[in-house]
Amino acid sequence: MKTRKLHNITVSEIGMGCMGFSHGYGEIPPEDYAVDAIRKAHDFGCTFFDTAEIYGPNLSEPGHNELIVGRAVEDFRDKITLATKFFIKGEEVKKDGSVLGTITRHLEASLKRLRTDYADIYYLHRISPDVRVEDIAEAMNALISRKIIRGWGLSMVNAEILERANKICHLAAVQNIYSVMDRDYEKAVIPFCLKNDIGFVAFSPTASGYLSGKVKASAKFEGDDVRKWVPQMKSENITANQPLIDLLKVFAERKHATNTQIGLAWMLKKYPHVVPIPGSKNQERILENLAACNVILSDDEFRELEEALKGIKIHGSRKDVGMPQEFID
Ligand SMILES: NC(=O)c1ccc[n+]([C@@H]2O[C@H](COP(=O)([O-])OP(=O)(O)OC[C@H]3O[C@@H](n4cnc5c(N)ncnc54)[C@H](OP(=O)(O)O)[C@@H]3O)[C@@H](O)[C@H]2O)c1
Repeated sequence: MKTRKLHNITVSEIGMGCMGFSHGYGEIPPEDYAVDAIRKAHDFGCTFFDTAEIYGPNLSEPGHNELIVGRAVEDFRDKITLATKFFIKGEEVKKDGSVLGTITRHLEASLKRLRTDYADIYYLHRISPDVRVEDIAEAMNALISRKIIRGWGLSMVNAEILERANKICHLAAVQNIYSVMDRDYEKAVIPFCLKNDIGFVAFSPTASGYLSGKVKASAKFEGDDVRKWVPQMKSENITANQPLIDLLKVFAERKHATNTQIGLAWMLKKYPHVVPIPGSKNQERILENLAACNVILSDDEFRELEEALKGIKIHGSRKDVGMPQEFID
């Protein structure tokens, strides 16, 4: 697979989101199946794996996903880019004595689970209301110089926060939601990253599977499944967004590809610094998504798709729920 740069870090142009093996999309598969899936993705050419300390079947079992990823990649760890994430609270910093102390404690626990002594990208999962992003950036400088991380990132942030953080420690990547259905970050964050040599890692790039065209209006989601609250997955929006599915299908048929692959190929064509990390707990769909690297839209095809997209209204937006307004451009 071709590679892209997230600032100084080289990754396959499509990465793998591992969250679904532990959390977020319903029943989780057996651990051996998940480990095998990650190894098959690597055999296919994927060298970029995304996890987080928080991904577990419940909050009392954090680290579940990191344990799976660590086991899966142990034999080829030095050939891949491993990204994980942490949360931080002001009360922890008080107890530990410093922001650096708290982050180091989280990082060391993650590294142990990941069976490695460094993380390639370490993201702050969400901005904390009581820990300044400047203080996080300072701590990241220290961790980079100690070589415990190679680069750092922020997740679900706006351009103003990015600018403040990037002044103190250059970011390798920003990880925000982005797909053909969720394009808000095209306004400020993606251009900011492009201008400042920061990679943009797109999470939920298949719009939680909606782009496949296989989600039925009658679909029911249970337990910790995020699709219970994703507005695009509300029955009325599944129906109302059908014109998008129809459009993707036209291109999919023309390119002998799947709808989801067109959605991923579109963002690869649109920006040189965007790297999607689709998530699936199904081995066939993981390979389908990675194979989007072989679906190349020509300049004319891309323009035609962009033009057609302008005429399609998206019903339901992730920014309408669960995300404070200040984090949205
Ligand atoms: N930074 C953050 O706050 C944040 C938030 C969310 C996620 N993430 C990261 O980003 C990764 C990707 O996000 P995501 O999991 O929401 O991505 P996604 O690919 O948009 O959504 C995953 C869902 O789509 C389905 N799907 C994926 N490919 C499909 C295909 N080809 N055909 C049909 N259905 C398909 C999956 O179903 P099956 O499993 O049944 O295939 C799963 O239900 C996560 O794994 C995680 O590492 C980060």
